[in-house]
Amino acid sequence: MILHKQEKDLLKQLEKKVSAKIEELEMNRDSARRAAFWLAEKNLASVKEGEKRTYQRTVECEKYAKEGFPEIRIMEKVGRPVSELGEEEKIGLIWAKKNNWIDIKEGKIEKLEEPPAEYALQKAALEPEKAAPEEIELLKKRKLLREETEKELLVSITQKGKEEAAKLEEGAEEEDSWEIGELTDDVIASGKWKSSKFRKYSIAPTRDAAIGKVHPMTRMVSRIKRAFRDMGFEEIEGGMVESAFWNFDALFQPQDHPARELADTFYLAGEEKIEDRKLLERVKESHEKGWKYEWSEKEARRRVLRTHTTALSARHLHMLKGREAKKYFAVGRVFRNEATDFKHLAEFHQVEGIVAWEGATFRDLLGLLKQFYSNFGFEKIRFRPSYFPYTEPSVEIEVFFEEKGEWMELGGAGVFRPEMTKPLCDVYPVLAFGLSLERPMMLMEGLKDIRAFYKNDLEWLKGGGVNR
Ligand code: DAH
Repeated sequence: MILHKQEKDLLKQLEKKVSAKIEELEMNRDSARRAAFWLAEKNLASVKEGEKRTYQRTVECEKYAKEGFPEIRIMEKVGRPVSELGEEEKIGLIWAKKNNWIDIKEGKIEKLEEPPAEYALQKAALEPEKAAPEEIELLKKRKLLREETEKELLVSITQKGKEEAAKLEEGAEEEDSWEIGELTDDVIASGKWKSSKFRKYSIAPTRDAAIGKVHPMTRMVSRIKRAFRDMGFEEIEGGMVESAFWNFDALFQPQDHPARELADTFYLAGEEKIEDRKLLERVKESHEKGWKYEWSEKEARRRVLRTHTTALSARHLHMLKGREAKKYFAVGRVFRNEATDFKHLAEFHQVEGIVAWEGATFRDLLGLLKQFYSNFGFEKIRFRPSYFPYTEPSVEIEVFFEEKGEWMELGGAGVFRPEMTKPLCDVYPVLAFGLSLERPMMLMEGLKDIRAFYKNDLEWLKGGGVNR
């Protein structure tokens, strides 16, 4: 039988002791524990789990142990009025009275009986292991002892174990004849390997192990990030709580736009600050000139859970320096005040991007999107004219869903309108797109219900569809 060094060690000890608690063994507690269970699996030992109670004296108890219990010490006060007693003496009074050693007559302490020369309760407090159960109970009730239970293991050798122990060679515990379990550089360099024995592998067949895996969504996000980086985009990030200013106003979305209503957007309590007053003036002017209404700063200061990652694009356009060309992308969580069903979630992800470059054309945008989707195996995509307050021209991207023989919407894109980009930065044109993450993933994973992303279905989580 192949035994680990620690198993042999334990077996040898048990051969002499027959049975022992883990802490009585001459080896490290953890090793002993482990070895005990290994031996038990091989029927060479048996392991019994028990509970051990230990008692801890409280600070108060330590004091009594040193100075004497208050019910004993109160006996010195026989004849004195109760009214002059301090806190601890009062405690003594109560217990001495319960013990029938004293009584109170006309407000004074009267002795009934001499306490025993050796007070049992004090003895119990000093040696709780030897105390009677009632004494322990009383000490616990008086908060003088704290009881703690500890698990303990008892290992015993079995008949088979004894036979196996007898077979172990003498001196097996000497270092030189240890079986080497791990081949390290030291074992090789020192030449120890020449004279050592190596532990044999004991490989047990295992069933399908549920190995921890990266969530399919996380894997998809990594793929998307890689795809954009490969195309020369830089990643941008930002918080999920936004001002209406960055989420809507900076995007030239008028303040009476239906998407801004409570039925579509989650508003949060409180207000956001709009630090850049010059920018605020430019955005205001753009709205008032373009949409012909009186723009309200108060409305712009409302706090929202971002409804799209386009808010991030706006923020980063504003951070551009001069007319520098930049390609940015973001993957982020967005929120819509919507009822959920098989196609809709109130909380989902968007993939957003901009190309700010004077030389950019609308055709570049379409080519870029085509290239991006072909990375994920979507070859058959089409663009349809669409509308967004911030883009002109605007398109909707659709993919052909073979299984259903239908086109499915994947996202929007367009060229940011000058009414939007002019107040933010001096670059025009800026190509922009905002894509769904969950929709194409559903197609790739063959999911029929978008809520599957949050269902934690183990079969799906283990399947690793995205990396197929
Ligand atoms: N923000 C849009 C949405 O949430 C998507 C979008 C459309 C983003 C066009 C863009 C864009 O950047 O140019 O539906």
